[in-house]
Amino acid sequence: MAEKEVTLSVIKADVGSFVGHVQAHPDMLAVIRKELGKAKDEGLITDFYVANVGDDIELIMTHYRGDNNEQIHKLAWDAFLAATAVAQELKLYAAGQDLLSDSFAGNMKGLGPGVAEMTFAERPSEPIVIFMADKTDPGAWNLPLYKMFADPFNTIGLIIDPKMHDGFKFEVHDLVKHCKVTFTLPEELYDMLVLIGSPGRYCIKHVYARRNQEIAAVTSTQRLNLMAGRYIGKDDPVCIVRCQSGLPAVGEVLEAFAQPHLVAGWMRGSHWGPLLPVPEQESRPTRFDGPARVVALGFQLCHGRLIGPQDFFADVAFDRVREQVLELADQLRRLGPFEPHRLAQDQLEYTTLPLVAKKLEGRFEAL
Ligand code: F6R
Ligand code: MG
Ligand code: MG
Repeated sequence: MAEKEVTLSVIKADVGSFVGHVQAHPDMLAVIRKELGKAKDEGLITDFYVANVGDDIELIMTHYRGDNNEQIHKLAWDAFLAATAVAQELKLYAAGQDLLSDSFAGNMKGLGPGVAEMTFAERPSEPIVIFMADKTDPGAWNLPLYKMFADPFNTIGLIIDPKMHDGFKFEVHDLVKHCKVTFTLPEELYDMLVLIGSPGRYCIKHVYARRNQEIAAVTSTQRLNLMAGRYIGKDDPVCIVRCQSGLPAVGEVLEAFAQPHLVAGWMRGSHWGPLLPVPEQESRPTRFDGPARVVALGFQLCHGRLIGPQDFFADVAFDRVREQVLELADQLRRLGPFEPHRLAQDQLEYTTLPLVAKKLEGRFEAL
């Protein structure tokens, strides 16, 4: 008999940190582990891992209740509330930051925390990589997902594996107009690049294998500042990728981070900077509140159990890209408040810059 479909839910939030916006406190993680441990004992979830990337806490949970399940989202909400209480008690910075509502309302939609979930029949062996970033926005995944699932210079499997040769389907969301469009690759590659090359607005939400319509990747695409209408913090997105046996190999998935690429975020969510791949232990954005970090944790699923993690970027193979990232960061920092280091003016709409610009309005005289 086929195994029941398992759901992998990754729900994340920044509910306070020390010192400043650098790292969630171990006491916050402890209280969250206790809450999720209880839920596991009661059978609500099958397994969990609590990750910490910078000032964000990521709840990685498996269960058999499907995407967008009220009980699972409530569990995450309550766990973040418990961590907020700890943050308040210790007077940590920005306690409760991402919880935009006073109450829970059915699911996380519009409430602040980021969500990436997928439901699928577990394969005979199910390798998964979960990417988690700090100090950047969901557009940070566009280029790596394009490389993993569409670029044969990154993923040789697209050429030589008959199970991958048909290509993949990409669901792209317009985060401003709240609509979506699906592209079938490789045929519609150029059309898709028209959009995803503007990662501040268009984000890849789902990737599906064309040969069997199976889900291959999902990202969190919540935009805190668009939701709140003011600057709260960066979204610090997560992304789940299934690997191997007709999907990109683990090594092809990780290869997408072997060259530096620029993402929006960094200090005050207002700068372009290179994304730095690091192990979980080194995910503390220090310099100029950055550079933006990405952590990759690998798990094998086993009847819903999370076997792992394997902390992939804790490897010398990523030392070279780290050096290049730091070099690039130095170069961009030299530009200080000038574009293109600082984000373009329209992208700063939901930062504190417009408040300052307003002061200058009365100073202008007609030419
Ligand atoms: C980035 C981020 C930080 C803050 C910066 C100023 O997402 O949250 O870079 O914007 O540290 O923070 P405040 O205004 O709280 O002093
Ligand atoms: Mg923060
Ligand atoms: Mg953060």
